[in-house]
Amino acid sequence: MQKLLIKGKKELFGKISISGSKNATLPILAATILSEKVKLKNIPLVKDIFTMVELLKFIGLKINILKKKNIIEINHTNKMVKTLAPYKLVKTMRAGVLVLGPLLTKYKKAKISLPGGCAIGTRPVNLHLFALKKLGAKIKIKNGYIIAEAKNGLKGANIFFPSISVGATENAILGAFNANGKTILNNCAIEPEIKDLIKFLNKLGGKIKIVGRKILITGLKKIKKSVEHEVIFDRIELGTYMVAAALIGKKIIFSKIDSKIIHNEINVLKKMGVKIKTKSSSIEISKSNRIKKINLSTNPYPGFPTDLQAQIMVLMTRAKGVSKIKESIFENRFMHVPELKRMGANIEIKNKTAIVTGPSNLTGAEVMATDLRASVSLVLAGLVADNRTIINRIYHLDRGYELLEKKLKNCNARIKRI
Ligand code: EPZ
Repeated sequence: MQKLLIKGKKELFGKISISGSKNATLPILAATILSEKVKLKNIPLVKDIFTMVELLKFIGLKINILKKKNIIEINHTNKMVKTLAPYKLVKTMRAGVLVLGPLLTKYKKAKISLPGGCAIGTRPVNLHLFALKKLGAKIKIKNGYIIAEAKNGLKGANIFFPSISVGATENAILGAFNANGKTILNNCAIEPEIKDLIKFLNKLGGKIKIVGRKILITGLKKIKKSVEHEVIFDRIELGTYMVAAALIGKKIIFSKIDSKIIHNEINVLKKMGVKIKTKSSSIEISKSNRIKKINLSTNPYPGFPTDLQAQIMVLMTRAKGVSKIKESIFENRFMHVPELKRMGANIEIKNKTAIVTGPSNLTGAEVMATDLRASVSLVLAGLVADNRTIINRIYHLDRGYELLEKKLKNCNARIKRI
């Protein structure tokens, strides 16, 4: 099992290039089932993407990954596809469930393994099924599989999501895409990754638009056979490295990004006393020695992202006084807390809220990664802790961070995989 070894307290400086968004690429890859010839650029070469590609190949799409150029080329002329997403491919990558909508809307049937839960929560898919049933799908659960069919195709509908879900919104958009008639989705997630999926689908000829938390979709008859798309930058990767810069950076520059998209996160860091210079497509960050406490809650976009909760908590350990962050999206997303406490952080959990008292000087330790974002918070802690930190189970990291060691080494970090 590979580990990461980090020697802390090395000031970081230089440029960090941000990869394409994993969470935009995954639904867009699922959407390629609807087209024929697709070229996707700015693809992050991370484990979850390769797993999704495996699933699409299993279904019958011809896929070519040009690793050196971060490009994926898809040729889908196969008439005989398997409308099946097997357990072995969905259990490790829950976003595999996103092929349900496209398979159903194009082939009128699908058999998808129920994605299991994961470390951060039970991760049900009831909202995905709720929306597809509203679009006319007949769905039953049998032997751990979702068995769905829509003999006469899906039909447009007016759907009200009882709670906000990124994946359910994406599956509903994909299902409604060439349903008969118009669909209105209400109380949707409107993350930038969903906007990028909509941009891709509109390139296929779709007429989809977002109005507040409503998404209006006109079912398509004629889908464009070939399309090119450059995936949006990864705002969570960017936010992660912005925290690294706030912890121990000196003039770290991030370019080719859209600072409007992370306006909220920039404001949070500014309120915490971090020195940030923003231009429309670049940001420069330096650490400050007086980090201020703050109270936050994670919320659906444009609120503070749950995917940055573990990372900002490391910065809170450096703030003078008591900071709080409430995790209101997932039921069990504090697994990084015991590990951070072993590195000297002073954190207590009370009804879904982490109470962080600082400043504490973190000390290097051997720690265990448990999920993607928890593992990267341990990297951040290791960068600012004294002595050496060893992080176990770093396969979690490889699911969502492209070239993490290389990007940090380029900024003077002492980090290596052992
Ligand atoms: C997406 O997961 C992201 N994954 C997650 O990122 C992210 O944390 C999450 O959205 C929230 O922003 C991808 O985009 C691949 P949800 P998703 O449906 O779609 C409950 C990462 O680190 N819920 O918005 O699964 C659910 O349990 C990953 O990159 C239901 O109850 O999240 C959760 O409490 C982790 N029923 C809440 O809604 C459902 O049918 C939000 O989940 C679906 C969700």
